[in-house]
Amino acid sequence: MAKPAAKKTTGKTIRVSAPKRAQAAEAAEPSAPRKLTRAQLIDELNRDLAKEYSALIQYVQHASVITGPQYDAISAELTVHSNEEHQHAIALSDQIDFLGGVPAVDVADIHISPNSKVMLEQDLEGELDAIARYRERIGQAEMLQEYGLRRALEDILIIEEEHARDLQNALDL
Ligand SMILES: [Fe+2]
Ligand SMILES: [Fe+2]
Repeated sequence: MAKPAAKKTTGKTIRVSAPKRAQAAEAAEPSAPRKLTRAQLIDELNRDLAKEYSALIQYVQHASVITGPQYDAISAELTVHSNEEHQHAIALSDQIDFLGGVPAVDVADIHISPNSKVMLEQDLEGELDAIARYRERIGQAEMLQEYGLRRALEDILIIEEEHARDLQNALDL
């Protein structure tokens, strides 16, 4: 008979089976954000900023190029998204400066396609990535007791969630 996994609370080692280890790692992920310094948070925010710049450019291009009567409404919406990504870039840039960092001017990867549906899928992928990043960032701001930053990030997150819903509706998802 296989030995049951040992779970010692006083010893240094806790032995669990491989699948249980994987489960434990997964379960620990959301409730145990890794410790980070203010400098590391500034680096993360600069990566978010680069993605805001790429999103605003990507939306400008997609709004111009997207074709098809079924995409008329979303075409106008993409221009609105672009302006909102610009506002996010300004907000992040200000927050990085408030934290004592230097806002970067990098632009992350931009995704384009000749296919209108693929464009919207590219935009949705970017929004889902943004939602995941800002959820993580809000936890990190909270951890460092940067409550002004947390509030600014929450405002951005609300808009990214709206963007994702707009794209999901346009894609009939
Ligand atoms: Fe954004
Ligand atoms: Fe967005």
